[in-house]
Amino acid sequence: MTTVFLRGGSRMLHVAWPNGTSADFPFLWLRDNCPSGFHPQTNERQFDLTGVSPDIAITSADVDGGDIELIWNEDGHVSRYDAGWLFDHRPGVGLADPAAIAPILWRGDYPATDLPRGSARSLMTDDDALLDFLTAAKKTGLALVDGMADDKDAGMAIARRIGFLRETNFGTTFEVMSKPNPNNLAYTSHALPLHTDLANQELPPGFQFLHCLANDAEGGGSTFCDGFAIATDLRDEDPDAFELLSTTPVPFRFHDADYDIRRHHTVIDLDLFGNLQELHFNAHLAGIFDLPADRMEAYYRAYRRIMEMTRSDDYVISTRLTGGEMVIFDNRRILHGRSAFNPNTGFRHLRGCYVDRGEFDSRIRVLSRGKR
Ligand code: OGA
Ligand code: ZN
Repeated sequence: MTTVFLRGGSRMLHVAWPNGTSADFPFLWLRDNCPSGFHPQTNERQFDLTGVSPDIAITSADVDGGDIELIWNEDGHVSRYDAGWLFDHRPGVGLADPAAIAPILWRGDYPATDLPRGSARSLMTDDDALLDFLTAAKKTGLALVDGMADDKDAGMAIARRIGFLRETNFGTTFEVMSKPNPNNLAYTSHALPLHTDLANQELPPGFQFLHCLANDAEGGGSTFCDGFAIATDLRDEDPDAFELLSTTPVPFRFHDADYDIRRHHTVIDLDLFGNLQELHFNAHLAGIFDLPADRMEAYYRAYRRIMEMTRSDDYVISTRLTGGEMVIFDNRRILHGRSAFNPNTGFRHLRGCYVDRGEFDSRIRVLSRGKR
């Protein structure tokens, strides 16, 4: 049975669950999170924290079946908490996140044939298959879909099964093919060195979907590397370079006749907990470096070092998309590129779109409901 007692001096409720776990809950936290303060349909908090004093206290605490009942000193308000709900929200631990799937780093010796694969038909119709695929894609950051219909909208249909499409200055979807008057190197037949897309944006797009409708020209192979593996190794092997790349903002810029979109980013971006969050790496969109002259050479040394890693067989894997395949990757972790192709030898057409990380993670959480 769950037991509770008040730690009056430290202004906390001590809860011990039958599984041997125990935790302390500060009084103000308990008042702020009383279930009665949440709208029953929207689940949003309506309680106004400024309506109680910061030193509010409890006059009694009881266990009633699976509930914990508290009575507050200021207004006699009664709060009832499910003991399991309190367990799930323990201070210092917080709510488990089904989308917090740890990346599994890979390097140049990872066979492209081992990449996670899903079939278009099952991803469109089977929620369990979709959840398995999204989970695998979170681990590797890179996955493939087979059996795509020869339909320009088939890639978007799968992306929409996951979340809203992220619209950019290139549209809701974009055609990767050799075009007259290109405004992007991707729209030529040139090789693209490994890069992340749209590093010039305030928030570069999360997951990228590239549906291969045709890849019949000579050349046009795909390359990928795991930016998190590179950053992890760089942190070990050259901590000074890692420090410069993770603390020095550098400019990125896209500009054409209609847009001039600019943003400074660090090449390696850590989250608030110090974990790798994102890479911004795109030599063709890197702006003109504007750091002080006396810091330029040291920065360039670090920047060249990571660039060399993105060109090394130690990290890069190669594959060749064929018509009917789609590749999906986390554009903020995985760098992608392609070899040049000869448009006179055949047609090459990829159709792309993006779904941001937030929507992707939300779909994993919703599909995981009831599976614990
Ligand atoms: C892109 C891109 C890869 C390819 O469109 O951003 O990197 O294989 N394309 O054409
Ligand atoms: Zn790209």
